Amino acid sequence: MTSVDMRTPEALADAERWTAHNYHPLPVVIAEAEGAWVTDVDGRRYLDFLAGYSALNFGHRHPGLIAAAHAQLDRVTLTSRAFVHDQFADFCHSLAALCGKDLVLPMNTGAEAVETAIKVARKWGYRVKGVEAERAEIIVAADNFHGRTTTIVSFSTDPDARDDFGPYTPGFVIVPYGNLAALADAITPNTVAVLMEPIQGEAGVLVPSEGYFAGVRALCDDHNVLFVADEIQSGLGRTGKTFAIEHEEVVPDMYVLGKALGGGIVPVSAVAANRDVLGVLKPGEHGSTFGGNPLACAVGVEVVRLLETGEFQRRSAELGERLHAGLNALIGKGLVAVRGRGLWAGVDIDPALMTGREACERLAEKGVLAKDTHGSTIRLAPPLVVTAEELDHAVAQLAAILHEKS
Ligand SMILES: Cc1ncc(COP(=O)(O)O)c(C=O)c1O
Repeated sequence: MTSVDMRTPEALADAERWTAHNYHPLPVVIAEAEGAWVTDVDGRRYLDFLAGYSALNFGHRHPGLIAAAHAQLDRVTLTSRAFVHDQFADFCHSLAALCGKDLVLPMNTGAEAVETAIKVARKWGYRVKGVEAERAEIIVAADNFHGRTTTIVSFSTDPDARDDFGPYTPGFVIVPYGNLAALADAITPNTVAVLMEPIQGEAGVLVPSEGYFAGVRALCDDHNVLFVADEIQSGLGRTGKTFAIEHEEVVPDMYVLGKALGGGIVPVSAVAANRDVLGVLKPGEHGSTFGGNPLACAVGVEVVRLLETGEFQRRSAELGERLHAGLNALIGKGLVAVRGRGLWAGVDIDPALMTGREACERLAEKGVLAKDTHGSTIRLAPPLVVTAEELDHAVAQLAAILHEKS
């Protein structure tokens, strides 16, 4: 670091001193952000190629979203669901329409939306499918990431996420991702739902082979099982379509949404499904003090409006081709594999060169922020407002750190 780097070390030490160490952040302390760029406390600028794990699909401080939040801050911010407020119906209606579903249930974090989907699927299993009490099973995929609650980590296969957090919630069956025969074998008369990510983000942006989700849909139809798509990270424009599952031409029974739904401003999540599914919930059976609050709904309405224009999906599809072409050209030059769709890439670096963590540290030194997952894999997910030049710049920085180590 140079002599101008006055504030970063102290800010890092303070954060380390006063918080639980449940994260291992890159040594960057962000003070301001706009669009695809963030600026640290010492004035250095970085291209944000993580975008809050896709919570910032519309970029930092998108003007339309900020204006919607400001306007709502001046009116009413929180009512609880004990009363109805004037932003609620607009948000639920517009999101339901975007999903092509009858009903929406808003929550806050992604994990809460997943919990909601699990509860709704179980309730549906008992009340509609006729599964015997306490016997409902939900099938999930190995290497999944659906959040951090005790129930959700009960069906994680990642020891870091799961170990020493038991006793675990029963009722989940884990099958290999992408293997239809294993899924068919796992379905029993007690199966109420299959819960999966259309693309597994945390696992390294794994895209299953073509036809897998059409097969999942068919198995669910044949056995009267709900197909629940966790689109929290993959949805809302990230892959070049509104929902990643659209690439498979499949419609799930329930969408689970989060992250970008809050426009990078407030936590907003939701599930969307038809009346025969979401209608199983009756007053008092599920809820959240903050879920569907006026500020969240005002921002959420604007998020849906942005998605209705199709501009972000288009940008992601077009620029995604450019990103993937640039990354694929580095295979054999330090990269061993590239996966993903749209502006979302899982990049496997040659483990002989460096770990994913080291790659992210080196990229940060060159002004690009990205995040490693397991081993030598890093994820690239810039805001969908990124420009072609910014993409090229980031790929050039990746090429540079690979070149420097080879
Ligand atoms: C696919 C998926 N589901 C659920 C979650 C949990 O969301 P949250 O961190 O908002 O609880 C995440 C977060 O990364 C995710 O990627």
